[in-house]
Amino acid sequence: MTDPRQRVAEYLKWQNTVSPFLLPKELLVKRPVAPAPVAPVAPVASAEPVAISSNDGPATGDGPAAAMTAFAREIAGCRSCRLGETRTNLVFGDGDPHARIMFIGEGPGRDEDLQGVPFVGRAGQLLTKIIESGMKIPRSSVYIANIVKCRPPENRVPHKDEAAACIGHLKRQIAIVRPEAIVLLGKTALQYLLGEEMSINEARQQVFHYEGIRVFVTYHPSALLRNPDYKRPTWEDIKKVLVFLGLPVEN
Ligand code: URA
Ligand code: URA
Repeated sequence: MTDPRQRVAEYLKWQNTVSPFLLPKELLVKRPVAPAPVAPVAPVASAEPVAISSNDGPATGDGPAAAMTAFAREIAGCRSCRLGETRTNLVFGDGDPHARIMFIGEGPGRDEDLQGVPFVGRAGQLLTKIIESGMKIPRSSVYIANIVKCRPPENRVPHKDEAAACIGHLKRQIAIVRPEAIVLLGKTALQYLLGEEMSINEARQQVFHYEGIRVFVTYHPSALLRNPDYKRPTWEDIKKVLVFLGLPVEN
């Protein structure tokens, strides 16, 4: 086998069968495009530590990584709603600011509040499994955030005014990442990002867009933990995302 193209094809095939974590980088990261116009960030004095993903670059320069780091600093001391008073950590977001896919949940739970990272508890571990074992891409290659950045007491659903106070932060992150696909996890994400009140079962069969970005809707991983019957439809939804992005799909 001397044809280099054939060797590359064989290699890629081998990568996909041997390890889920070796997808060619160009399948995971968007092709370079003109940098997003990001509003200038006012410096804000903040005493709180800022949890920043390992993929973020230095807080100088252009591009999504720098913009995300600067934005994390900007809202680190946020007190826009009552949840800011009871949080341990503001849970800003996690992953690659150049990601092609963005997952959006409801809000931090206990583990997330303690660690300052979204989706690290039981539901988070299931989401990670869906991404890594199901979609066969590293969790670090997507971007993950929530409707609200601070934990609602007793994990209650965020109130309307709390979501309203926080949604601008999420929208700013979406504008920085400019993913090709957004996956809304559960009813709260659907309700507060798109203003849609329908059930997940109804919504997952429809096509939505946010600011020109294709939006997919599926069950929240906590719902999957409570009811394993949701696993099959969730995987069908995730496969639609893979097909939309041109990523390899397994059954
Ligand atoms: N549930 C969510 O909606 N978000 C998290 O970050 C964790 C659990
Ligand atoms: N992959 C899984 O293993 N489970 C799901 O629910 C979805 C994808």
